Amino acid sequence: MKKLFTPFEKGTLKLKNHLVMAPMTRSRAIGNLPNEMMVSYYSQRTGAGLIITEGTAPSPEGLGYPRVPGIYSQSQVEGWKLVTDAVHKNGSKIFLQLMHTGRISHLSNLPSESKPVGASDIRASGEIFTDDHGMQPYSVPEALALEDITKLIENFVRASKNAIRAGFDGVEIHAASGYLFEQFLNPNVNTRDDQYGGSIINRSRLIVDIVKAIADAIGPEKIGIRFSPLSRMGDQKPYGESEVNQTYTYLSSEMNQIGIAYIHLSTNPDIPEKTYRIIRAVFDHTIIYCNGLNADSAEKVLQNNEADLVAFGRGFLANPDFVNRLKKNIPLDDLGDNIICISKESDNSKYSRDNKTE
Ligand SMILES: Cc1cc2nc3c(=O)[nH]c(=O)nc-3n(C[C@H](O)[C@H](O)[C@H](O)COP(=O)(O)O)c2cc1C
Repeated sequence: MKKLFTPFEKGTLKLKNHLVMAPMTRSRAIGNLPNEMMVSYYSQRTGAGLIITEGTAPSPEGLGYPRVPGIYSQSQVEGWKLVTDAVHKNGSKIFLQLMHTGRISHLSNLPSESKPVGASDIRASGEIFTDDHGMQPYSVPEALALEDITKLIENFVRASKNAIRAGFDGVEIHAASGYLFEQFLNPNVNTRDDQYGGSIINRSRLIVDIVKAIADAIGPEKIGIRFSPLSRMGDQKPYGESEVNQTYTYLSSEMNQIGIAYIHLSTNPDIPEKTYRIIRAVFDHTIIYCNGLNADSAEKVLQNNEADLVAFGRGFLANPDFVNRLKKNIPLDDLGDNIICISKESDNSKYSRDNKTE
């Protein structure tokens, strides 16, 4: 029996197998509310031991794309309850991905009282899809003032408590792919001169502050975090491999001290193995690997102890019965021309336009 399909247990995380469904934005949440279509989408994919939901906004200014779900209102909590019930009934666990897109946003994708925000007021180059006007250049973000950061932390805490009320097993902080937290980490995007800008510790502070605050509210074992070191998504300009390695060494050891459940590495082929080895070495808890895996390479990752769990995105998207197909060697459907190349710049918007598969 492949390790992939055997039960998993580490710390308090117990799963029926080693397979994780990666978070994928679907842009189907009309009015930012989880709906019946999402209930059936997630319950069809409960072959996975752990499902991580599509990126979900902790507050309205974090929505970024059209039709992204939120977790800041009571009706959103009620909608998500139907999803978590359906997933639990089929024996899987489910974490909610908290995604704040920061400057990867357009004014017309946000409610009228909200504006795109960022570490600094530097606009990302590239375009984003809007329901009202099609493709548009990203909006210029408003730099978060210190009092806005306090509010942001409160919003993440409230959203995490809401997630637990909605029945989620935990929350995953989306600190990858060029969204708000990576905008703080990257010195080319974060030009602040306060305690959230400058040194590696300062640029990492927002993530550490938020994770600590959420851990106090819901418990560290209910938190995961997603990193994508050296990702270029969202117009992230490179800032040097050695500084990147120092940044993730620092962050991973902070996460280790707080005692969160897992670090989820969203890899791309440009990322040197060294970065992963560093993270694996300083973080004692669960590591999830994702991107470009197939049944054989995923099994190898597990057998070599490079990661504790493996995640699949597009495989689950195109094949609701993905795990069954892997078990029985049934050929997989792929997304055809709709395959998303996640490593190219300004490809984020493609996620939101994908409505083809079910
Ligand atoms: C349609 C689509 C939407 C995605 N949305 C998200 C998202 O909301 N949050 C996230 O962290 N990653 C997102 N991703 C990235 C996936 O989680 C995953 O890293 C990527 O698909 C590569 O894994 P794969 O090779 O197994 O597909 C998305 C990917 C796709 C294809």
